[in-house]
Amino acid sequence: MKVLVIGSGGREHALIWKILQSPYVEEVYCAPGNGGIGELAQNVPIPETDFKKLVQFADRNFIDLTVVGPEQPLVAGLVDVFRDHGLLAFGPDAKAAELEGSKEFAKVFMHKYGIPTASCQVFDKAKDAVHYIHGLNGPFVIKASGLAAGKGVVICKTRSEGFDGINMIMKKKAFGKAGETILIEEYLAGEEVSVLALADGERCVMLPAAQDHKAVFEGDTGPNTGGMGAYAPAPVLTKKLRDLVYESILMPVLRGMKKEGREYRGVLYAGLMITDQGPKVLEFNCRFGDPEIQALLPLVKTDIVDLMLESAEGRLKNKPVDIASLHSACVIMASGGYPGRYRKGKIIRGLDQVPRDVWIFHAGTKLSGGKIVTSGGRVLGVTSTGETLSEALDRVYGAMGRITFDGAYYRRDIGHRAYKRV
Ligand code: AMP
Ligand code: GLY
Repeated sequence: MKVLVIGSGGREHALIWKILQSPYVEEVYCAPGNGGIGELAQNVPIPETDFKKLVQFADRNFIDLTVVGPEQPLVAGLVDVFRDHGLLAFGPDAKAAELEGSKEFAKVFMHKYGIPTASCQVFDKAKDAVHYIHGLNGPFVIKASGLAAGKGVVICKTRSEGFDGINMIMKKKAFGKAGETILIEEYLAGEEVSVLALADGERCVMLPAAQDHKAVFEGDTGPNTGGMGAYAPAPVLTKKLRDLVYESILMPVLRGMKKEGREYRGVLYAGLMITDQGPKVLEFNCRFGDPEIQALLPLVKTDIVDLMLESAEGRLKNKPVDIASLHSACVIMASGGYPGRYRKGKIIRGLDQVPRDVWIFHAGTKLSGGKIVTSGGRVLGVTSTGETLSEALDRVYGAMGRITFDGAYYRRDIGHRAYKRV
């Protein structure tokens, strides 16, 4: 089989690493790929937004399966375009991907089908939102409705922070068109967890729960990023809660989306808050979480290509995914300054110094003059497994000590919540 992966991050690198373990797979291409991906697969210089060229490439190169990594091409309908050309792609089509593409759609849908989530009001005029806030006491949460790379959320402790938030999103248009409509929602207290499942329209199979660390600094302080590290399994999701998530969230989503004529195939990622009243949905994503999937894939023993084919073709078996009884962790090495301004083009040293039981998945890297250099905010995902979480993390941090680049930054407290539970 020939597989094309679309995207250029740590998620795509980890997926390609796993896909290559499938006995069916002969060749993998990645559009556009990155410095590390180029060592495993053939990078193809087509941007993930150029649907015409992507279809042409898949067609001419007899690609059997295309795996779409990021949300933008899914929300913009890449899977639809491939389907229209008779090509098989893993992921939801545009109508299904709206579950991530529009937080307003997701909220209305959840209310209609009784899926537990924070209560909320939707506004498309700043004046009305300001008026509404006058009647609230903090904390509450303001969200841009559209795609904002995980950054379109403001937690407001006070009314005045709420006014600033509305000003930033609706007047200063900090997230562009994504902020034309906003949601103001109830603040949920609890511990967060990411639940990723593969769905085929009617059924789904769950991966172990993972926990991301979104804030840039230790102790979960500072601005939110795409994610600074993740581990799995996350003990916050007990077996009982996992069954509850399946029954009260994942299956109702699949049944509801089918009823709406938006059959959901691909990754269904529920970002949950485990509250005193049980799990509630913070958001849905229509693709693998990053860095969560970097931590999850080393645990998956089932052939991932089989799962993706079954999902895309609507024929998943009602059989649990085979998971190694290990713990896994991924810590992100980022460019100093991220998620704000940071420098690029720094030479990365020590990549060949890491032990074999540690995997380095590249995100913002490129090959320049024969050297791997930084080219983004999140640069590397360093991942390992162990009999315990602390064993996995010791391996990861040990390897990170051998990798250097100018301005490298990473959190040293990944997994702190799990440690508190042991
Ligand atoms: P989202 O993109 O909707 O997942 O939001 C990004 C982050 O904001 C989440 O991972 C949470 O940490 C936080 N967040 C979002 N909604 C809420 C809420 N209703 N209550 C508390 N925290 C929230
Ligand atoms: N790690 C969070 C996300 O992928 O949205």
